[in-house]
Amino acid sequence: MAEPLRVCVTGAAGQIAYSLLYSLGRGEVFGPNQPVTLFLLDIQPMLGVLDGVVMEMMDCALPLVNEIVPTADPQVAFKDIDFAILVGAMPRREGMERKDLLKANAKIFESQGKALDQFAKKTVKVLVVGNPANTNALIAHKCAPSIPKENFTAMTRLDQNRAQAQVAARVGVPSNAVRNVIIWGNHSSTQFPDVRHGDVSIDGKHVPIYEAVKDDAWLKGDFITTVQKRGAAVIAARKLSSAMSAAKGIVDHVKDLWCGTPPDEYVSMGVISDGNSYGVPEGLIYSFPCKILPDHTYEVVTGLEIDTFSREKMDATAKELVEERDSAMTFLSADANL
Ligand code: NAD
Ligand code: LMR
Repeated sequence: MAEPLRVCVTGAAGQIAYSLLYSLGRGEVFGPNQPVTLFLLDIQPMLGVLDGVVMEMMDCALPLVNEIVPTADPQVAFKDIDFAILVGAMPRREGMERKDLLKANAKIFESQGKALDQFAKKTVKVLVVGNPANTNALIAHKCAPSIPKENFTAMTRLDQNRAQAQVAARVGVPSNAVRNVIIWGNHSSTQFPDVRHGDVSIDGKHVPIYEAVKDDAWLKGDFITTVQKRGAAVIAARKLSSAMSAAKGIVDHVKDLWCGTPPDEYVSMGVISDGNSYGVPEGLIYSFPCKILPDHTYEVVTGLEIDTFSREKMDATAKELVEERDSAMTFLSADANL
């Protein structure tokens, strides 16, 4: 057996964590031969609830779970960790946009970025899920200057899964027959779900999505708005934001970061823009198509052709990220310079 990986989940008493922890403990993310030590961080008033979660995790009798450490202290939670899954944050309610959460959540990512900088391994991989995820990831990265900026990612995998599932249902194939759908930009209603480079496996052949769907108006209209507004639709129906599907997005994202992507396939993640890809301003955490290598590093897929329709949408979501960054600054300490 390998040494246990030290994995921290924040917001561990919340609803996404409740759907996530079992998968982490079962080996669905890091594999069937990789034990994990789970550091579960929540705020002090939630420690009672967290105790119940820990009891249930124990009662699952999962052999890969080496130890579970519930805590309200970031120093304990982040000490020498390999992975940080930052979920803990306020979710939005009906009628809000995710960026409306900046006032409540920006400070959390400032203090957790600083704590990661101090206590985590310098090789730690950080996935930000708490909304607004891209800008929170930017805040955490800026507050952790000793950790490579490429180690910070924001989750747009739920959006990718939503887009894939919509196309699969339309064509009448299983969702894993659809590949290389891209989410560009922000995990928000300005994101651009782009199917122009993707395909559907039909009778052993990879058919371009536009050819397989045979409904350009849907792909350029309702498909895009359905994916953009899916989070709000779930909130309107459930009166709570998505949790099961968010946990599945985390599992997919972290598993790919750990194991790599298959040849000829890429996945979408919010990653730091170097200013050289697709005209996206440098320094934003923007969702790009990425190939992940077996050593847990990634490369942004380059050279995809961008038409005018896509260009406009990619620019609009970048513009929103610039605005979010500027507005986040007003909620942070003077030393947290974005
Ligand atoms: P929840 O309210 O059920 O749980 C959040 C938990 O975080 C609570 O237990 C809370 O006490 C804890 N928390 C608050 N501040 C904390 C801190 N400083 N440190 C540690 N824990 C802290 O919410 P949820 O449904 O689990 O959602 C969590 C976040 O994830 C929300 O911001 C939500 O909008 C976001 N989300 C993102 C995506 C995505 O695709 N990126 C998808 C779904 C939800
Ligand atoms: C989602 O996409 O479901 C989450 O980000 C929750 C939300 O606020 O929409």
